[in-house]
Amino acid sequence: MNSIFSGYLKFDNVSFSWPNGVNVIEQCSFSIVKPGLWMLVGENGSGKSTLFRLISGVISPNNGKIFCSLRPSMVYQNPDHQLLMPTCKSELMLSVPKTVPHSKLFDLIQASLEKVDLGEMLDRPIHTLSGGQKQRLALAGAIVSNSNLLLLDEPTALLDPQSQNSVLKVVKKLTSSSTNPITAIWVTHRLEELFFCDGASIVKNGAMSNWYSGSKVFQELKSLALR
Ligand SMILES: Nc1ncnc2c1ncn2[C@@H]1O[C@H](COP(=O)(O)OP(=O)(O)OP(=O)(O)O)[C@@H](O)[C@H]1O
Ligand SMILES: [Mg+2]
Repeated sequence: MNSIFSGYLKFDNVSFSWPNGVNVIEQCSFSIVKPGLWMLVGENGSGKSTLFRLISGVISPNNGKIFCSLRPSMVYQNPDHQLLMPTCKSELMLSVPKTVPHSKLFDLIQASLEKVDLGEMLDRPIHTLSGGQKQRLALAGAIVSNSNLLLLDEPTALLDPQSQNSVLKVVKKLTSSSTNPITAIWVTHRLEELFFCDGASIVKNGAMSNWYSGSKVFQELKSLALR
């Protein structure tokens, strides 16, 4: 697949069924050919998390093809299920690629903390961080691992409005940076977040709609809810 941009993700008629059931993903086609913040909304069980597992390569399609030149990383709803080590520094050490020379380790970790507005937190014990700070540390882990495709599965579901904003702001900054913007796909049930995205799609019965503006999808879902 040709793209003038540095990376792409394309699903071509992808179907998938878990071993015990019917197709959860049903002839799903879409593409993302430029960096940005792309949001997915859809009812419980419509297949959003399964789509993420397909993109990250944990599971493979039964039919259809996935083309991906990006390096994906998952960020989950609950950072306590993701963060393993006692301090920010030791946590990020886990994610640094093995090829990075020891002399560059500290600078890389510090730079990733600064990118998520946690520049002062190098030696901070993780259990003392707020929920939003923990979620941003999970983002730093993805960045320091050299990922350029963040798969964010309801990353703000457990956060208060202020922390929710801090996470949105950081992801928006990473995806719209003028030097090295990355791609993020963000699943949400919090419809007000749609106003921050570069494109949004509705997942229904295992397939994605076209990309629309976040405000259009917001209006569409609000009018459905009022019917
Ligand atoms: N590991 C699994 N084994 C078997 N079935 C699964 C597995 N994971 C998900 N499913 C099924 O696949 C369907 C889609 O689930 P999925 O988690 O992808 O939905 P979702 O859109 O992420 O929902 P939610 O908004 O509740 O997170 C559901 O019927 C679910 O029960
Ligand atoms: Mg899910």
